[in-house]
Amino acid sequence: MTTRRHLLGIEGLPGAEIEQLLARAHQYREGHVGGRHLVGRVVANVFYEPSTRTRSSFEVAAAGLGAHVLNWTVSGSSASKGETLVDTAKNIAALGVSIIVVRHQSSGAAALVARSVGCAVINAGDGQHEHPSQALLDAYTLWRRWGGAMAGKRVAIVGDILHSRVARSNLHCLKALGAHLVFCGPPTMLPPGLAELGAEVTTELDTALDGADAVMMLRIQRERQSDALFPTTAEYHARWGLTNERAAALKPEAVVLHPGPVNRGLELSPEVADGQRSLILEQVENGVAVRKAVLEAVS
Ligand code: CP
Repeated sequence: MTTRRHLLGIEGLPGAEIEQLLARAHQYREGHVGGRHLVGRVVANVFYEPSTRTRSSFEVAAAGLGAHVLNWTVSGSSASKGETLVDTAKNIAALGVSIIVVRHQSSGAAALVARSVGCAVINAGDGQHEHPSQALLDAYTLWRRWGGAMAGKRVAIVGDILHSRVARSNLHCLKALGAHLVFCGPPTMLPPGLAELGAEVTTELDTALDGADAVMMLRIQRERQSDALFPTTAEYHARWGLTNERAAALKPEAVVLHPGPVNRGLELSPEVADGQRSLILEQVENGVAVRKAVLEAVS
């Protein structure tokens, strides 16, 4: 098992190391290992942004490994009195914490924390930059479904690519595992440079979905948009939403993912979100095993 000091992003992580993490997650997922590697250690969740899945998942994973979990949020903390991120992180580390799991609205925040403290740091989402544990659980969910055969699989990633740290981490993760990536969304939500990184890029959803083995729908992130990047939600759903009709036209074995939270009826129809193709709750379930593997790797 590879060990590293921090997990700040997927970019630059060798494919072999990603595969090791997935394999270890699989051992946790299948109950082949019950190690309580973090007994006597403290894991601090430091979340400057709201979270349902990531924070709870790290809490369940850390507790499952025997750690004590400290959950810190802005509300009720001295950050609301103006204490800086670095001061907050240094003070939390001074409590004897072994691992800080940090989510922040600014890209680079996790790296800043890692430079400021002596303990391990895991990026739980920094601005529009990366969300590495999400990409690992997405990859693991597909890896498990496909029996580890990722090479050449067509994965369409659809929606607000521009603001999505999930898209960025998945680009690096799925590419390292040999998948063929297709990014699709309104022209205003497609950042430059994706084609240069080896991905297919289109604004036509039906082109992206043609032959897809997996479709990852992304949330429209209204909180990160200062401009109107599409005319109306009805038009967005009609042009870039995974409607019942589009889902019915997918390959029979194609699967649908979404990192959550889902804007039902916007990027994804409720019937597809809850339907046979959907792996959305399996992603959440797998996330606990993946985060156990990540916590173990940085500990
Ligand atoms: N996927 C994800 O990051 O969800 P949360 O914002 O609920 O953690």
